[in-house]
Amino acid sequence: MKNINILAIESSCDETSASIISNGKILNNIVATQSVHEKYGGVVPELASRAHQQHLIPVIHEAITEAGIAHEELSAVAFTRGPGLMGSLMVGVSFAKSFAYALDIPLIDVNHMQAHILAHFIDDPKPAFPFICLTVSGGHTQLVLVKDYLEMEVIGETLDDAVGEAFDKTAKLLGLPYPGGPLVDKYAKEGNPQAFQFPLSEMPGLNYSFSGIKTAVLYFLRDRLKEDADFITENMADICASVQFTLIKMLMQKLKRAAREHKVKEIAIAGGVSANSGLRAELNRLAGELGWNVYVPKFEYCTDNAAMIAMAAHYKYLKGAFCGLDVSPVAKMKL
Ligand code: KG4
Ligand code: ZN
Repeated sequence: MKNINILAIESSCDETSASIISNGKILNNIVATQSVHEKYGGVVPELASRAHQQHLIPVIHEAITEAGIAHEELSAVAFTRGPGLMGSLMVGVSFAKSFAYALDIPLIDVNHMQAHILAHFIDDPKPAFPFICLTVSGGHTQLVLVKDYLEMEVIGETLDDAVGEAFDKTAKLLGLPYPGGPLVDKYAKEGNPQAFQFPLSEMPGLNYSFSGIKTAVLYFLRDRLKEDADFITENMADICASVQFTLIKMLMQKLKRAAREHKVKEIAIAGGVSANSGLRAELNRLAGELGWNVYVPKFEYCTDNAAMIAMAAHYKYLKGAFCGLDVSPVAKMKL
């Protein structure tokens, strides 16, 4: 049988990435991280597009040569169609279309959020259908009921900020560099999660809200700094631990409810925030308490990467789900 070799590209935000998948097995995952945004305290869309434009071909070249696959052995080319930053998506889409046209091979459009979930099928153990996936990233917070590889239903989501944004904005208020989520995680390990109390948001059903905690942290710090100018430096670990504790509690409340309502015990997490050590620990604790089977992808497949795009593309290839060369990116693409 002919091998199925797919080149996949990810360029939705600030990571330029390429991956080769062969017969469903990831051969590599090359990621170029854009450091240009650090000094601005957040991703600058225009700079992100320019950096993608600069890094994309070298990253793709590395993936193809490292895999030892000739151009004519490629069965298809896949790209992230959305959601993401329009300018960043355009770079990947334009390349993928030209490449598919030049090689006369099928083009596969991939939904970035679906790919975050399908990252669970890169390595063992793999979740069994149906499972619930809590997708937590800098741009999204969703509870997804996954019925099959390409059949997913959003059963809850944030109505304002993403949880990754809440981590990053807290970090910014504490004077930590962008992206601050991993630093909040690091300091939290040394702190007392009960040191300070922050309000839990009360959203109906399975939906989330993370804009309130950002304001709560802002006012809290402003009041404490009035009394003690060194409050942040003296209490960094306790502040991080307390905010992280609150964010995880909010995430888990709705996850527990979703699992109960849908009678599912197969639970997965995906997206950049799933790298958080406190979240992983709490999930493992709940697994013991509630009899859940918990799935967490390898760290390199949690943050943005092309391997997950490749995995999604493989399943779409098997179904013959290709797109036309007139396809456009969709910044707010739904699952
Ligand atoms: O999935 P991702 O790489 O990009 C988006 O699609 O947004 O997620 C990035 C987000 C950022 O907000 C970053 O601060 C957060 O994931 N993040 C973390 C940790 N590692 C990454 N947040 C908390 N704890 C971490 N260890
Ligand atoms: Zn992402």
